[in-house]
Amino acid sequence: MSLAPLARIPKAELHLHIEGTLEPELAFALADRNGITLPYADTEALRKAYLFDDLQSFLNLYYELMAVLITEDDFEALADAYLARAAGQGVRHAEIFFDPQAHTARGVDIGTVVEGLGRALAHSEERHGVSTKLIMCFLRDQSAESAMETLEAAKPYLDRIVGVGLDSAEVGNPASKFREVYEAAGALGLRKVAHAGEEGDPSYIWEALDVLGVERVDHGLRSLEDPELVARLVRDRIPLTLCPLSNVRLRAIDVLEEHPLVAMMDAGLLCTVNSDDPAYFGGYAGDTFHAVHEALALDHERLRELARNSFVASFLDGSAEDEAR
Ligand code: HPA
Ligand code: ZN
Repeated sequence: MSLAPLARIPKAELHLHIEGTLEPELAFALADRNGITLPYADTEALRKAYLFDDLQSFLNLYYELMAVLITEDDFEALADAYLARAAGQGVRHAEIFFDPQAHTARGVDIGTVVEGLGRALAHSEERHGVSTKLIMCFLRDQSAESAMETLEAAKPYLDRIVGVGLDSAEVGNPASKFREVYEAAGALGLRKVAHAGEEGDPSYIWEALDVLGVERVDHGLRSLEDPELVARLVRDRIPLTLCPLSNVRLRAIDVLEEHPLVAMMDAGLLCTVNSDDPAYFGGYAGDTFHAVHEALALDHERLRELARNSFVASFLDGSAEDEAR
């Protein structure tokens, strides 16, 4: 099915886990190449496992499938496949998360990950017309010490990493656990974002803002529960990177028609829509625009506003070089 022109409106994607773009076909191809046996008969059987109850049930599969990513070539293939698809969906700029600890824990060096992803990113503008930035995420269900070790291990690659983020299981792992590592990241000149308010209540968002000093909140879905928080987010023009299809698949909301996106925009929040883990959640960036257009009756002006917001909220600096794309 080809996407409607409106869904292909030029946009930036700001909340995208590269490991979450691993489509079943590529997972099996890489498993083959690396002599790994996946515990699924075929791509169809794997796709049938994509029925999630919550964030953790998704994360279990997400981490399991990463076993097929071993070499620089694997990471390059993963990122190149994403960039090709994203380009076809109107993405002109992508700020891409990766989870180094999910790879180093399996014995894959962070250098392999960054060099492999970096190869695809280096060719992205010329090959796909998509500019890119890379954001390294810490796994919040791992220790603060592990996050600090990861920051240390990333030091040789900081020329290719624009910022740090925080992802994985949220509830019970508040942002405050990572105060020191975010301070250290800030001192290195890295930009700061964090997942907050996906499953966690507004206190998780407050901590991301006040303890970590994030410039952008990933998800922030539960912001409307706290009017003071909304006032703060509006006052400081803190962007939210919402992921509506993810919220339905991980059952943060029951159906897309109940997504608070419109209410959030009406409240003056700087909202963007993104695909999160598109191989698992049923759609890439353009599909997501199309889905919210249909389910939430967002008119063309509102979609254009979302597309505009995505560039405003990005880490593009507005320089001649960045604007030239
Ligand atoms: N939430 C938290 N952690 C994640 C996600 C998500 O949606 N995707 C990959 N890691
Ligand atoms: Zn995410």
